[in-house]
Amino acid sequence: MFTVELTFSINGKSYEMEVDVRKSLMELLREIGYTSVKHGCGVGECGACTVLVNDVPVDSCLYLATWVNGAAVRTTEGECRDGKLSPVQDAYVQEGAVQCGFCTPGLIMNTTAFLEKNRGKEELSREEIKKGHAGNLCRCTGYQTIINAVEAARKKDVC
Ligand code: FES
Ligand code: FES
Repeated sequence: MFTVELTFSINGKSYEMEVDVRKSLMELLREIGYTSVKHGCGVGECGACTVLVNDVPVDSCLYLATWVNGAAVRTTEGECRDGKLSPVQDAYVQEGAVQCGFCTPGLIMNTTAFLEKNRGKEELSREEIKKGHAGNLCRCTGYQTIINAVEAARKKDVC
């Protein structure tokens, strides 16, 4: 087994560990206990495994764990603040954008990065929101409530 020593953080907590070079970031995160990171398709199609690496969304199933050396990883577990849901998490609940919930952690992380990137932009159309979330599939909601949630979170000037 080939391993390398990695130093990185997850939701602000520092880690230093030996990691198998063949391991994906999704596998590593789930083994450590960040089980919000879902194993969906495993081939970069569904977005259920989306996390942020240095604030950029990645499909963690396709992302080698070794690539996070020195990086800051964010998962939805770390988005709660002072025991409260983040504005994005709260908007998903309030808008009924969650059904089975399997896609939700990945969507929330993508929405968070999307709104951070577009902060300060005057107009953000539903079409732009759709395009910004094209990499996240949901089998339950029909997407309208998800777009509503992104719009609602944006109104709160989130992130
Ligand atoms: S599990 Fe990673 S994109 Fe589907
Ligand atoms: S809520 Fe079920 S897959 Fe999206």
